[in-house]
Amino acid sequence: AQYQTGVKLLCENGLHRLPKKYIWPPSERPTRTDTQDPNVAGKQNLQLPVIDLADLLGPKRSQVLHSLADACQQYGFFQLVNHGIAEDVIRKMREVSERFFDLAYEERAKYMINDLRAPVRYGTSFSQTIDTVFCWRDFLKLQCHPLPDFLPSWPSSPVDLREVASTYAQETKYLFLTLMEAILESLGIVEARQEETKRKEILKDFEDGSQIMVANYYPPCPEPDLTLGMPPHSDYGFLTLLLQDDVVGLQIHHQQRWLAVDPMPNAIVVNIGDHLEIYTNGRYKSVLHRVLVNSVKSRISVASLHSLPFNYMVRPSPKVIDEKNPKRYRDTDFGSFLDYISTKEPKRKDFLESRK
Ligand code: SIN
Ligand code: FE2
Repeated sequence: AQYQTGVKLLCENGLHRLPKKYIWPPSERPTRTDTQDPNVAGKQNLQLPVIDLADLLGPKRSQVLHSLADACQQYGFFQLVNHGIAEDVIRKMREVSERFFDLAYEERAKYMINDLRAPVRYGTSFSQTIDTVFCWRDFLKLQCHPLPDFLPSWPSSPVDLREVASTYAQETKYLFLTLMEAILESLGIVEARQEETKRKEILKDFEDGSQIMVANYYPPCPEPDLTLGMPPHSDYGFLTLLLQDDVVGLQIHHQQRWLAVDPMPNAIVVNIGDHLEIYTNGRYKSVLHRVLVNSVKSRISVASLHSLPFNYMVRPSPKVIDEKNPKRYRDTDFGSFLDYISTKEPKRKDFLESRK
């Protein structure tokens, strides 16, 4: 039971060795070369494609749409700059997350609930009731859409959490819609000169879609080579918008190797989720990623996961299917997808592979 209270508390109580519960099998552990010293930029770090949102919305749009399509096909990840979310909004979101994890354990524990659909869920590892090996991570999950339904159940402490996190949630939602529109255009699902009403109609489902924010906290770990902050997984939705701080940890699986994603000040890391892979019939790939921890610095990240409404079916868009590209994925409803991942977390890619 001592592990179910999370790694933050474990660290507060003093720890020199990694408890057995967190030791991953040797084949899944990070190798020594990819254990990152947070103060040294690793040589193996990956320079993700960079997409400039200001250019995407300006006269260079068609050129940037090509870069966007390339990034989605070859990496499944990109760094987004000039995204329009104010530095202040981002800084406050990071700070309030940090202050939440700094609260007394009893205060955080009020939100320890196992229901995946709960409006607020605080926890550790992925699921403290299912996981056999634990990962070195505590998290706070907030359901965000529709905001007025969920906001009153969000934590009331720190006092500014609701205000700061709802502002950040609204801004990321808006950004998600802007990106989704560009992605649909890059796929030819909406057309550049399509009339406004038609575009709006297509985007309406995404406007009504689900949004979940997850703040992750990875404290310094006494034996970082033996464990993981998050094991390899793919995200389930259409897009994830991720704020990292300045500590390395995130790695993506690219061309058979694990490569660290360098933190870029004020950029947002965007990645493709399983639902977009299904929707594009495999043209854009949801890519496995994982998180390493270190012995020196704690790391905080905030992920915002976006998809269609929970009661919708996710299926390949008819616009990407023809004789040359037959449908490769079965239709799936979000509900059974969530039920599946609640028993099988965290390697969701298994599910996707079985859909082909
Ligand atoms: C995630 O994979 O959802 C979070 C990754 C991170 O903490 O950087
Ligand atoms: Fe993820």
